[in-house]
Amino acid sequence: MANIFLVGTHWGDEGKGKIVDVLSQEASGCVRFQGGHNAGHTLVIDGVTTILHLIPSGILRDKCLSIIGNGVVISLEALQHELQDLIDKGITIDEKLYISESCHVILPTHIALDQEKEKSLGKKSIGTTGRGIGPTYEDKIARRGIRLSDFFDESNLKDKIKKLMDYHNFLLKNYYNSNEISVDDTLYNLLNIFNEVKKYICDVTPMILDVSKQSNVIFEGAQGTMLDIDHGTYPYVTSSNTTFSGLISGTGIGADKVDYSLGITKAYTTRVGHGPFPTELTNQLGLDIAKWGGEVGATTGRSRRCGWLDCKILKQSIELNRINGIALTKLDVLDNLEKIKICIDYGPIDYKTFQVEDIEYIELDGWKTSTVGINNFDNLPENARKYIKTIEDISSTPIVMISTGPSRDQIIKIRDIFK
Ligand code: IMP
Repeated sequence: MANIFLVGTHWGDEGKGKIVDVLSQEASGCVRFQGGHNAGHTLVIDGVTTILHLIPSGILRDKCLSIIGNGVVISLEALQHELQDLIDKGITIDEKLYISESCHVILPTHIALDQEKEKSLGKKSIGTTGRGIGPTYEDKIARRGIRLSDFFDESNLKDKIKKLMDYHNFLLKNYYNSNEISVDDTLYNLLNIFNEVKKYICDVTPMILDVSKQSNVIFEGAQGTMLDIDHGTYPYVTSSNTTFSGLISGTGIGADKVDYSLGITKAYTTRVGHGPFPTELTNQLGLDIAKWGGEVGATTGRSRRCGWLDCKILKQSIELNRINGIALTKLDVLDNLEKIKICIDYGPIDYKTFQVEDIEYIELDGWKTSTVGINNFDNLPENARKYIKTIEDISSTPIVMISTGPSRDQIIKIRDIFK
């Protein structure tokens, strides 16, 4: 039995959804602890694609509880849409989904403020998903936010939402010269949705503790290490702790309950949104990798920037998240390449130009043959095995899983991490 923390080692979109899905077969719980519906986890099961933004990927398994911890910010509208989509696909939700009453709620004014702020930053914008994530966390830290628990006391909720939205509307009107949003309409809409979903809301910490003592639990990180508010490429980051510390504060369980940290690393590196990206390929090859890898954001539909695997960041992620093993994803995307580079080091990042000095790469021969769907390590071409071994040597960390395609069965399991 083991409780496993899954974290993207770079800027998100490493393919966590698929790895969670594979592992959830043997798990009784799948827990989200930070972020919101800015995340996008794509799962392909029997040829059917499901994209989850808010609900933990374990929901697709009959015997797995899906738990949203207190560190997550909730859009009630997004939750309602996602639930409807799952119900339409015939997936059972009741008695499988639990949401912390301490989650903060995203208001329409948070979304408007997020988008207005981005507009006002012009070329220096962060490239947020525009979903109100940052402003909701701002209000949480300022101790004026609205939690799901507030919805259980309607008259108090009205006062709280009015006070907060008056402040937001003041900013929207007077600072951003934009439209105000109706408090009454907001209350009406949110209360309607709340009444539909309140059966899922409770104190989840004891439940997480309980399940984690008895059976395998997966803690599903969203975004990636370099988007962490403290340790990422600030200010081009998201507004939560995406790393190991976020798991602890975002669930209320102790660090000793986590037995294994699995870093999810894509065989190359990608980033959506703005900000530094030392190994970015701004040439045709970058576009080709994006095409082969289908590198389009699951949440925003934006193209992802592509580059060589950045092992300097990988090593930082391993330290920050106490990573024990790596799941290497999308190996097959590199099948066509004659030569493949791995970045091992560079000097400090200049946050004005996003440039780095003294970037060092090692170059390896590609394997030029399809690895799609291979599920036995020994069947990989020799040069692919060399690529994997090189990453293990540089990072001093074992690669325990390799993904060779989007489906559940396109996976090489080198070690059973639950044992
Ligand atoms: P926000 O989280 O919407 O505030 O966006 C902040 C930054 O995080 C932007 O660069 C986004 O593109 C990025 N981001 C947010 N969620 C994800 C994700 O799930 N994958 C990759 N990047 C993300």
